[in-house]
Amino acid sequence: MSNFFFFEEVKKIKNYILVFIFLVLSILFLLYNNNNPFEEEIDLGIYSMNYDISILPDSPNGNKIKYGHKLFIETSQLLGRKSEKNYVGNSLACSNCHLNVGKQPFAMPLIGVDKRFPQYRGRENKLGSLEERINGCFERSMNGRKLSENSEEMIALVSYIKWLGRYVKKGEIIFGKGLKAINYPNRAVDLNKGKLVFDRVCVECHGSDGQGEKIDDFTYQYPPLWGDNSYNNGAGMTRVLTSAMFIKYNMPNGITFESPILTDEESYDVAGYINQKNRPIKNNLENDFPDLKKKPMSTPYPPYNDKFSQKQHQIGPFQPIFDFYKTNYNIVKNK
Ligand code: HEC
Ligand code: HEC
Repeated sequence: MSNFFFFEEVKKIKNYILVFIFLVLSILFLLYNNNNPFEEEIDLGIYSMNYDISILPDSPNGNKIKYGHKLFIETSQLLGRKSEKNYVGNSLACSNCHLNVGKQPFAMPLIGVDKRFPQYRGRENKLGSLEERINGCFERSMNGRKLSENSEEMIALVSYIKWLGRYVKKGEIIFGKGLKAINYPNRAVDLNKGKLVFDRVCVECHGSDGQGEKIDDFTYQYPPLWGDNSYNNGAGMTRVLTSAMFIKYNMPNGITFESPILTDEESYDVAGYINQKNRPIKNNLENDFPDLKKKPMSTPYPPYNDKFSQKQHQIGPFQPIFDFYKTNYNIVKNK
């Protein structure tokens, strides 16, 4: 009699134990596959804070921030060839790439960037300041030259970035930082397919010659994608994987990372297509990345630390390059 009850109890507990083991295994499986739903959670809170510059007082600091915001949008008008400053050599604005004046998730937002600097930079193989990072974009993305670190303009740009970052804690990484990864295909860029995507989707705004649409000589309704008025060949945007990530989740202008219309393959092909066109040439690129192992694999200019051709670094296939660095140096490359 009592024996019978004992077995009944064991049967009951056995089910509980099985359920428990099943749950533990499921959690381990999720963690192991990095599919932890909590990690992927979309938290856009930081983007809905108040970044309206009109709330700023008419104080010295308030005015610096407002001037920085203006420089961000009217970069080539205020700092370009027309001005005596001549810091900018093309017709772009910072906000043409750092969309929504640095407040767009996965369009290299500038919210909280100040909390991550000084930072180690592979391109120089040293610890760099926020001012040096901004100058990197002046020399490459803006095809221009460096600003002095205590110039009025640099102080204004840094003040704006710091103000954008006022809700972010030291060392905190915000959701939507940088660019969103894509699964690039295991083949070279197909330039013909890239042109088809370009004609179908991009021409409407950037024009069939890629030169965008001007309002006047220094102001663009739609910025140019190649040629003398675009970013130079040392810019991050010339790396096909970087620009594919930017394009997929930001173009055509108006979409967001939550509503892309291009596939990963289309973004990859069109990014390759626009970056095979002529653009300004930067000097001394051979000195970039003193430790060549740290060079992003789609950097379009040599030297390289491997036997892959320059062409393969420009248009892929990238999987063999990825595997080479993973196997030989345990370095995981994503751009
Ligand atoms: C042609 C596009 C383009 C333009 C124009 C541009 N940038 Fe950038 N910027 C980039 C890219 C791409 C990166 C990220 C590079 C990378 O992934 O290595 C970047 C990175 C940065 C960063 C570091 C961001 C981070 O998350 O660490 C700062 C700061 C910055 N840019 C400031 C500026 C300023 C200020 C201007 C205007 C003077 C400017 N950029 C113009 C493309 C651009
Ligand atoms: C509806 C108009 C529109 C379409 C279509 C469009 N773009 Fe853009 N693009 C823009 C605007 C506007 C900007 C600048 C955004 C800003 O300043 O806020 C831009 C910026 C860019 C930039 C960074 C700045 C530069 O000039 O290098 C790239 C790269 C780019 N677009 C590529 C593309 C590609 C590739 C396509 C097609 C897949 C495309 N765009 C389709 C309007 C458009």
